[in-house]
Amino acid sequence: MQLVSWGSMQDIIRALEKRREEARLGGGQRRIDIQHNKGKLTARERLEVLLDPGSFEEYDMFVAQRCNDFGMADQYVPGDGVVVGWGTINGRMTYVFSQDFTVFGGSLSETHAQKICKILDLAMQNGAPVIGLNDSGGARIQEGVDSLGGYAEVFWRNVQASGVVPQISVIMGPCAGGAVYSPAMTDFIYMVRDTSYMFVTGPDVVKTVTNEIVSAEELGGAGTHVSKSSVADAAFDNDVETLLEVRRLFEYLPSSSREKAPSLPVNDRVDRAEMSLDSLIPENANTPYDMMEVIRKISDEGEFLPIQREHAGNIITGFIRLDGETTGVVANQPMVLAGCLDIDASKKAARFVRFCDCFNIPILTLVDVPGFLPGTAQEYGGIIKNGAKLLFAYAEATVPKVTLITRKAYGGAYDVMASKHIRADINYAWPSAEIAVMGARGAVEIIYRGELGDREKIAKRTADYEARFANPFVAAERGFIDDVILPHNSRRRLIRAFSTLKNKRAQTPSRKHDNIPL
Ligand code: HXC
Repeated sequence: MQLVSWGSMQDIIRALEKRREEARLGGGQRRIDIQHNKGKLTARERLEVLLDPGSFEEYDMFVAQRCNDFGMADQYVPGDGVVVGWGTINGRMTYVFSQDFTVFGGSLSETHAQKICKILDLAMQNGAPVIGLNDSGGARIQEGVDSLGGYAEVFWRNVQASGVVPQISVIMGPCAGGAVYSPAMTDFIYMVRDTSYMFVTGPDVVKTVTNEIVSAEELGGAGTHVSKSSVADAAFDNDVETLLEVRRLFEYLPSSSREKAPSLPVNDRVDRAEMSLDSLIPENANTPYDMMEVIRKISDEGEFLPIQREHAGNIITGFIRLDGETTGVVANQPMVLAGCLDIDASKKAARFVRFCDCFNIPILTLVDVPGFLPGTAQEYGGIIKNGAKLLFAYAEATVPKVTLITRKAYGGAYDVMASKHIRADINYAWPSAEIAVMGARGAVEIIYRGELGDREKIAKRTADYEARFANPFVAAERGFIDDVILPHNSRRRLIRAFSTLKNKRAQTPSRKHDNIPL
């Protein structure tokens, strides 16, 4: 056996260190400075913020591109524009990739794609989430079809991993063309304000084809995607804040569909009474109040992590903890459009419900809904098909579902919002609940149309209808509501309700997959 001498081993180690240093420098100091001058961190600096200190282990640091065309033959940059590997967030493992804009603009080559595919495969096999930090000029132009093939390999794996491990995309620079479709198929997209954008075709193409003049920011910046398009779930002011928020989101999620989300120690009494909830509902049924107040008063330590906060404000979606357990919240918001369900709200909540169901996260539904939003815009836009998404999502979800009606639960929207009939497990109402086919006024105008000219009669009929239906007891008499609870006891009652559902088993019919109205 030949032994390596001490001296030569030192040389070998030094050579390895030198190679590593070279790789860590990516596209070189000049390009790193340009990156910093744009207010952006480098790919590696981002991983340092995202992951627990010292936890990152890199794979494929020496992988290099293999293209020989267009002057690429002598271009050796170790790592090929993406840093991949795994690390931990508060001790839990996650796989990561972080595109390095300083290397060929972070563009995706065949080998760059292979590195991303490797960690997606490992994540699925080993049951750990994937967090992708995107900062790329798109397909490596010198490679052409090899790059397109690489993208499609990533897309295919995103789909295979969907519902198996949580996938989080962070957009931290350009993300354009077909490249947008990888993030689009992951569970959450976070964006950085002012330095990131996503679009299928950029401002120049838009101008040529449609004559519209629009800036990159307006077309696909964070502001556009968190409010108008709803492509992104949240946006933050800079790289560091965004990555810290990803860590916060990660804490609410399980590592895979094989596990439940981590339980965290709680510094909040499970039987905490909130007397202020007893006077939250205004006397006039048409006066709004802030549903966020209910959420914060129920949740552990008043914490709430919103998803899609800036889109479809008439419905709130996000995560809380109840007695330390991650719980998904879907809640009508009476402050916006009176809490009506419309196309955007239905789609937003449906996707959230399906995420929770994939990943064993129980769902709390808080209901104050006067119905579906009327109008031609809604009908032409397909409120039928889009409203059905939410109904479908709730009905197919088998995770524990607990519903609390605070005020209105009218018409079809009552059925949709996790009613007993579509298999919510436990349904509560506050005494202020009104569970009816519609509001008293509208109902009377239909059934007593002939008396519309007589204001006194109509007022009496309305009062009668209200007395009969503007309460939770008709539904409670039928067992549609399991109990009418005191608002101040909500936290305790909801925690107790979820505790009974910890071992819930639900049967689903055997089939390939369902056919949600897309
Ligand atoms: C190869 C690229 C590149 C790309 C940028 N670079 N994009 N190299 N392939 N796609 C290189 C540049 O040559 C430059 O190299 C370095 O990255 C930084 O780019 P700059 O242009 O100097 O940076 P900036 O001014 O910030 O502009 C960023 C940019 C621009 C807006 C992304 O680079 C750009 O428009 N790139 C082309 C985008 C594009 O058309 N991509 C293909 C889209 S089609 P040096 O050596 O000077 O530092 C597509 C299809 C995917 O993506 C389909 C999937 C199904």
